[in-house]
Amino acid sequence: MEKREMLYEGKAKKVFITDQADQYLVEYKDDATAFNGEKKGQIEDKGVINNKLSTLLFKELEKVGVPTHFIELLNDREMLVKKLKMLPLEVVVRNITAGSLAKRLGTDEGVVLSRPVVELYYKDDALGDPFVNESHALAMGWANIEELKEVQTLGLKINEVLQKIMDQAGILLVDFKLEFGVADGKILLGDEISPDTCRFWDKDTKEKLDKDRFRRDLGQVEEAYIEVYRRVSGVLVQA
Ligand code: TMP
Repeated sequence: MEKREMLYEGKAKKVFITDQADQYLVEYKDDATAFNGEKKGQIEDKGVINNKLSTLLFKELEKVGVPTHFIELLNDREMLVKKLKMLPLEVVVRNITAGSLAKRLGTDEGVVLSRPVVELYYKDDALGDPFVNESHALAMGWANIEELKEVQTLGLKINEVLQKIMDQAGILLVDFKLEFGVADGKILLGDEISPDTCRFWDKDTKEKLDKDRFRRDLGQVEEAYIEVYRRVSGVLVQA
């Protein structure tokens, strides 16, 4: 496989084309943004942690039949993935109130939901990724009904798998964001699974171990990312 020119640079990753028409190379950056790019910074070695943690979690998901874009870890910052036609949606799954849900519903953070909540957001930076529902997605042609059913089913299955892993790592899986795409007519999980895209709280102390430390200027950001990787790799290497 040969890395060729950059196709796209996002806020946290770069995507390169390769000599294989159906494969992309993803490079994970240390850049961090929040509030739709308004707040900018760097988290040392975040790219390395997110690349390696996503690899571990994609592999676990594949083992239980969740199809992902992951092909191979190439080095500390790069992974090889399947080329997907992305749905312009962010699929958020929540187990505990936090962030925009707590704000929207006027609840405290930390309330355990009686069942997981699945939400859709339309991926559009200029609009600030607005909250949308299924009928918006269908009417606007962002996904068809089968695709919407599939991302919901996969979202809930991924939630169960990740909750189990995180529980063993002494971590509460508060909520997380997924992005899906289509390859060969099939829906696959794309993007990443990391402290950038999940809320992780220590099970005992409820200490935040994710990007909220950056968003909210809580300090010890690098340390939190490293701690999540240390705990999860400990669990998965033993398994
Ligand atoms: P929210 O509470 O801000 O809506 O975030 C829900 C989850 O989605 C949380 O785990 C963080 C993640 N997320 C992203 O990965 N990217 C984003 O742009 C936003 C707003 C949230």
